[in-house]
Amino acid sequence: MERFARLFSQNRHWATITQESDPEFFHGLSEEQHPDFLWIGCSDSRVPANQIVELAPGEVFVHRNIANVVDPDDLNCGAVIQYAIDHLKVEHVLVVGHYGCGGVKASLCNTSLGLADQWLERVDRVKEKHFECLRVLPDEKSQHDRLCELNVIEQVRNLCSTPVVQAAWARNQVVMVHGCIYGLEDGLIRDLGVSCRAPEEVEPHCAAAIAHLMEATGSGASSK
Ligand code: CO
Repeated sequence: MERFARLFSQNRHWATITQESDPEFFHGLSEEQHPDFLWIGCSDSRVPANQIVELAPGEVFVHRNIANVVDPDDLNCGAVIQYAIDHLKVEHVLVVGHYGCGGVKASLCNTSLGLADQWLERVDRVKEKHFECLRVLPDEKSQHDRLCELNVIEQVRNLCSTPVVQAAWARNQVVMVHGCIYGLEDGLIRDLGVSCRAPEEVEPHCAAAIAHLMEATGSGASSK
């Protein structure tokens, strides 16, 4: 109970110092939000969206789920994407995976997590699609890292194929979709080079990003 109660004192402290540094901060945000970014990330407690890219409240609209999956048929995920693009008109949509993802590892190792197993079937499909890319890697750690990366790229592909993104592009609304991966060990986000802002960019950019990952494997260099 003490730890729960502490949240309120921490919140009062945060509200006080925020108000002191910018007396108009809460008033401005209470009117409406104009975030430039939609962040689709993993629910993992070690990857908090605002904090790791130093964005203040009001600057990023966030959807998180286990293993940063983009499934437009999931009502929650689909509604967030539609609201962010059609109503908030965010210009950048980021799919942000992370190395060391427990959901991705469960899929890789066929470990049961319970209810999440059904959710992770979406990552299983990425694993099966890229079985050959994973099979050539020497150990489970490299396969885990690679599946985290491939999962981001495939979720970018899923996102770009949604009717919401396709319709936005068809009406020339600026929507740039990006795929990134965060390192728990160094706190850095890496751009996977799959940024797309038009339908014709999706397949070539995703294919090039996957080829780039495979080249890094072939040369023995780390992809991180
Ligand atoms: Co994760």
